[in-house]
Amino acid sequence: MKVTVSRHAHFNAAHRLYRSDWSDAKNNEVFGKCSNPNFHGHNYELIVHVTGEIDPETGFVMDMKLLKNTIKEHVEEALDHKNLNIEVPFFKTVNPTAENMAVMIWDTLRPHIPSSNSLSVTLYETPRNYVQYSGE
Ligand code: NI
Repeated sequence: MKVTVSRHAHFNAAHRLYRSDWSDAKNNEVFGKCSNPNFHGHNYELIVHVTGEIDPETGFVMDMKLLKNTIKEHVEEALDHKNLNIEVPFFKTVNPTAENMAVMIWDTLRPHIPSSNSLSVTLYETPRNYVQYSGE
């Protein structure tokens, strides 16, 4: 019997989507407002899902306090109020799209989640645009 527990977190961050090997016109065509050279911010909403068996001793799939603190320490501290392109080493060479951010967040959290549980992250860049990554 598998149960999924989820924790909702939030952070603000700035980014710019562009490729330095493309012209400004091409960057603008592909990335639109997200290629603004002066950066811009998003209010990111992150939902972390952990799936596994219920521990018969505690009745938990995972201790939610631990999940909350893990997200805070490893994701929020690293990304909140940051300029992703400039201040987050991972995005020096990787475009900080919601897709790449979801992969980076999953990779960051995975070692901190019990290995018997599966992990999935949902990242909202806007209330209507979101991506999901489960490590596949
Ligand atoms: Ni953007």
